[in-house]
Amino acid sequence: MPTAQITVLTLLSANVVVPLIATVGVNGKVTFLEKEGTSEFDNSTGAYELDLSLVHDFDKAWRTMHVKSDVFCSGSVILPDKGGRILNVGGWSLDSTKGVRLYTPDGSAGVNGTNDWEENFQELALQRQRWYPTAAVLGNGSVLVIGGETGSNASPQPNLEIVPNPGGKADTVIDLDWLARTDPWNLYPFVFVLPSGRIFIIYYNEARILDQHTFDTVLELPNLPASVNNFLGGRTYPLEGAAVMLPQHAPYTEPVRILTCGGSSPGAGIALDNCVSIAPEASNATWTLERMPSQRVMPCMAPLPDGTFMIMNGAHQGVAGFGLATDPNLGALLYDPSKPVNQRISILNTTIVARLYHSEAILLPDARVLVSGSDPQDGKNPEEMRIEAYYPPYLTGGRTQPNFTIATTDWAYGSSHPIVVHLPQGTTSTMKVSLVAAVSSTHGNAMGARTIFPAFTCSGNTCTITAPPNAFVSPPGWHQLFILDGPTPSHSVWVRIGGDPAKLGNWPNLPDFVVPGV
Ligand SMILES: *[C@@H]1O[C@H](CO)[C@@H](O)[C@H](O)[C@H]1NC(C)=O
Ligand SMILES: *[C@@H]1O[C@H](CO)[C@@H](O)[C@H](O)[C@H]1NC(C)=O
Ligand SMILES: *[C@@H]1O[C@H](CO)[C@@H](O)[C@H](O)[C@H]1NC(C)=O
Ligand SMILES: *[C@@H]1O[C@H](CO)[C@@H](O)[C@H](O)[C@H]1NC(C)=O
Ligand SMILES: *[C@@H]1O[C@H](CO)[C@@H](O)[C@H](O)[C@H]1NC(C)=O
Ligand SMILES: *[C@@H]1O[C@H](CO)[C@@H](O)[C@H](O)[C@H]1NC(C)=O
Repeated sequence: MPTAQITVLTLLSANVVVPLIATVGVNGKVTFLEKEGTSEFDNSTGAYELDLSLVHDFDKAWRTMHVKSDVFCSGSVILPDKGGRILNVGGWSLDSTKGVRLYTPDGSAGVNGTNDWEENFQELALQRQRWYPTAAVLGNGSVLVIGGETGSNASPQPNLEIVPNPGGKADTVIDLDWLARTDPWNLYPFVFVLPSGRIFIIYYNEARILDQHTFDTVLELPNLPASVNNFLGGRTYPLEGAAVMLPQHAPYTEPVRILTCGGSSPGAGIALDNCVSIAPEASNATWTLERMPSQRVMPCMAPLPDGTFMIMNGAHQGVAGFGLATDPNLGALLYDPSKPVNQRISILNTTIVARLYHSEAILLPDARVLVSGSDPQDGKNPEEMRIEAYYPPYLTGGRTQPNFTIATTDWAYGSSHPIVVHLPQGTTSTMKVSLVAAVSSTHGNAMGARTIFPAFTCSGNTCTITAPPNAFVSPPGWHQLFILDGPTPSHSVWVRIGGDPAKLGNWPNLPDFVVPGV
């Protein structure tokens, strides 16, 4: 294990929300959703937005928003529509499990928006009840919503549906026997669009590749290794690990690799102390195992602009759920896929804040990481309202962050976009450019996460970036564009790549919804 690097962290704000889901909107603010049904407090509206430019002015920083039904435990993604709407689906019981909620981020730094969450179960609902579903934008711009249970710890919902429903009012749900077989260990499965267009899914301790049109299985991969004494350990809720796709680099010829870290085992709840990764479309793909310095269940993994991943939160023992984990893991780790296998993990600073069930970690536009939540209801650790900002090592070396200007932020696949760069330390020969896809973080599942290093060329301080080539390398959507001066990232600018091919921006055409356009 490389020697420890230090990360500074500061407490940002407190006493508003115990978030279930955290999302940075295209307005640069952080949207939090909070559960209701089992909350210790009865004063929450279920939705708040934090203006990062006002964190030192508590009375102004938080905007109160509203959801109409209980988001415990739903899934979220940012849509590729013009407004960068946040879609939230599923929930806790009865009508809320079919909830479809939409928010178009608005306002700007220092100025409150006026949009709120839109929702009307009578007008717009999922086809099936879903507690713990995953949502993912497909290459064709529609949204896949998969799995879950019919309600809290209720019968399985081993199937998928497409949102908006391509069948109109017809039932178009597709059953999945492998989700039925692995219930209840497969909730919030990890879903990734592969460069072939096919879909890769990790659920419990299994993984497979699906056809993107029929959702039939194309390939079953080997089971994920767990621990030496128990091969039945798994990676998805309630054994909850975290998973991300490792960065893709132009010219995108290397097979993509998926990484999952932490998790636990059924029964004794022995948390896993490893990460495993696989390149699902390489021939004879097998899992590569790397040890972490400690056991961890309920980790969060935040993609960073330099292509590394911060691993944090969770516990040394137990499983996800209320009161089901002990011994919080206060350390943070950095996973650097550019290093050789088994030398990729380094140890960052610890925190003082236990973050157990229901915690989040997301990349901020200034390249810090926002860490929130913890809702253990264990009688020992608090319902956590404190929010932290971690400063990854690239911000603590005393270097100045570079900056850039860009004229065009709505990118077609393969198109070229000039930027003018200001590099305080280095030159364009040591510069990098990255695109970090919009993420909604919940339950170790960074829905939407993807990191791309696009091709670029420079002449003087003007560089031209070539957008990723297609919707399978980069499904349509919003990304934070960063430049890096050597190791040091700029602040981000939001760019949309691939437009809105499914025309989600015109959906839904219903009285209680205002659409942003495509
Ligand atoms: C490490 O984190 C602690 C809080 O847990 C903080 O007090 C300390 O300043 C941090 N150390 C450095 C070098 O950032
Ligand atoms: C809700 O009540 C808790 C406990 O009294 C308090 O800490 C919190 O600030 C309140 N939240 C809001 C949004 O008022
Ligand atoms: C934003 O709205 C909230 C109420 O939801 C208010 O408390 C806060 O002061 C407002 N902030 C600004 C910058 O106007
Ligand atoms: C995207 O693909 C899914 C699965 O084949 C299909 O149901 C959906 O209608 C497609 N969306 C569009 C906009 O074609
Ligand atoms: C993959 O495995 C099969 C069967 O074991 C073997 O015949 C084939 O050579 C392997 N392919 C590669 C590229 O290793
Ligand atoms: C951009 O970087 C240059 C060079 O470091 C610096 O002079 C300038 O103030 C920066 N601009 C902004 C808007 O931060």
